[in-house]
Amino acid sequence: ELGPYRHFMQKEIHEQPRAIGDTVEGILDAGGFDAALFGKDAAQVLNDVESVQILACGTSYYAGLTARYWIEELAGLPCAVDIASEYRYRSVVANPKQLIVTISQSGETLDTMEALKYAKAQGQAASDESRTLSICNVPESAIPRASRLVFYTRAGAEIGVASTKAFTTQLVALFALAVALGKLRGRVDDAREAALLDDLRHLPGSVQHALNLEPQVASWAEKFAPRQHALFLGRGTHYPIALEGALKLKEISYIHAEGYPAGELKHGPLALVDTQMPVVVIAPNDALLEKVKSNIQEVRARGGEMFVFADADSSFSESDGVHVIRTPRHVGILSPIVHAIPVQLLAYHVALARGTDVDKPRNLAKSVTVE
Ligand code: F6R
Repeated sequence: ELGPYRHFMQKEIHEQPRAIGDTVEGILDAGGFDAALFGKDAAQVLNDVESVQILACGTSYYAGLTARYWIEELAGLPCAVDIASEYRYRSVVANPKQLIVTISQSGETLDTMEALKYAKAQGQAASDESRTLSICNVPESAIPRASRLVFYTRAGAEIGVASTKAFTTQLVALFALAVALGKLRGRVDDAREAALLDDLRHLPGSVQHALNLEPQVASWAEKFAPRQHALFLGRGTHYPIALEGALKLKEISYIHAEGYPAGELKHGPLALVDTQMPVVVIAPNDALLEKVKSNIQEVRARGGEMFVFADADSSFSESDGVHVIRTPRHVGILSPIVHAIPVQLLAYHVALARGTDVDKPRNLAKSVTVE
């Protein structure tokens, strides 16, 4: 079943061009970013939505954090993203016109399910009229069954405990949701939609290109393996990818890692930086690149060793203490999906170097059906 791979996680990382391609194909087959992707009466449900509330746990929560940038930009809607176990115990302010979006690979995560029930009980009408949408990888699981609208990602069964292909296909689904909402709200016209569809069509190829970087990423692993801590930095849509990179690393290699928005460095975490702290930076050529570069200077000045994922256009050069891997040429709005790949590969190869149980990290379960 593993084929040429050593672990399910590695296999699932490499399946991503296929998993993303299948998920994209479903969108193309439906003729584009139509509300109908999310269910029969979706246009009616999504039409007068006033805001979006995303609920999820772990890696699925980071997919939600990424989606917020797209929903604000493409749909012009306010979007809140909450960790399900926090939301469900808070006095939330109800709005019946808020779209509740849950994201769950398994569809069985207890906190996400309970947060969905809580959201419905607060502001939503009877459940057959609720504005609830679930993005899920397992058909007929509990969370999609409790939701009015559903999008099934086509990642296929994910066996490794660490989520990889489920994450990137969730991102594709959330991107489609942002564009569909943008169309309904008259913010995405036909020309823009065609351009965004084109971006999506090229995505599996860019992801494959990122996978081809595996030998280079693996060559960094030995530098991380003996370390106790690592910092991951990004800005904008790449900030949630920094969070995801840190989670993957801590989860499977047991190295303590933190993800930070690069602009927050000087508000605290810069105090941690010394020669023993490897710092991973996700720095493709986007609108925030110059800001990221000045953040990098701050780290270098404190002796931190930098590991930069930069694309062909972000004009970084290797120097003493600065290692650079070139990711595919900037792929625009879908860039966070492409940059999820190298951080997954990094975590995987560091875990291999440390000899941990990659597919079954200690203390963790694939499906968290308890509180
Ligand atoms: C991390 C990971 C977990 C899950 C989280 C939510 O690699 O896999 O953080 O993302 O437990 O699980 P689902 O998506 O099944 O609700």
